Amino acid sequence: MLKLAVLVSGGGSNLQAILDAIATKALAAEVVLVASNRADAGGLDRARRAGVPTAVVPHRDFVSREAFDGALVDVLRAHGTEWVVLAGFMRIVTPVLLDAFPQRVVNIHPALLPAFPGAHAQAQALAHGVRVAGCTVHLVDTGTDTGPILAQAAVPVLEGDTVEALSARILAEEHALLPAVLQRIAEGKVIVDPPSEVGGRARVRVGGGPLR
Ligand code: GRF
Repeated sequence: MLKLAVLVSGGGSNLQAILDAIATKALAAEVVLVASNRADAGGLDRARRAGVPTAVVPHRDFVSREAFDGALVDVLRAHGTEWVVLAGFMRIVTPVLLDAFPQRVVNIHPALLPAFPGAHAQAQALAHGVRVAGCTVHLVDTGTDTGPILAQAAVPVLEGDTVEALSARILAEEHALLPAVLQRIAEGKVIVDPPSEVGGRARVRVGGGPLR
């Protein structure tokens, strides 16, 4: 059984989608830990309700991002984590975390990357006037929302959309896409080929047909 740790900073609706998919057996995985940099993250309550172990690692307690990630790695390893899921985790991760779980950290981002990386993706999509928005599940690398793409789902941008309305439409797709990608990982269908040349990108293949 795939042992997932989920890192959250906020409400944790994507965490909930993972827990629900596990409960309905759509996802053959176990959440061994939910960890947060914020003690007040709603995702921690969702974890507790599901009987999942939780940990709080306050980022302000550490002098550097690397020191924070080192503490995270310790707690992730202590729970037997195999893959790490960033689900609304609002911290930039460093090689300290990425090297501990090489090519085994995934992120969900509310935009069709490489458009609109960063913390304000939906507002930027609206401001730019795009007609199609969406979400991306990708492997995490040292950049911000730059790692190899595993899967994407698109939604229309509608006349008169607000950031809230567009975000909600995207979030509904996130809740379907993320557990579906994790199930492909559980099935061993996500294959990561290392970069073929210096400076190249790792390439990922997701077997099993279209996800959305
Ligand atoms: C999602 O839109 C996710 O893509 C982004 O942060 C949001 C988290 O929502 N990275 P939730 O905490 O899972 O409800």
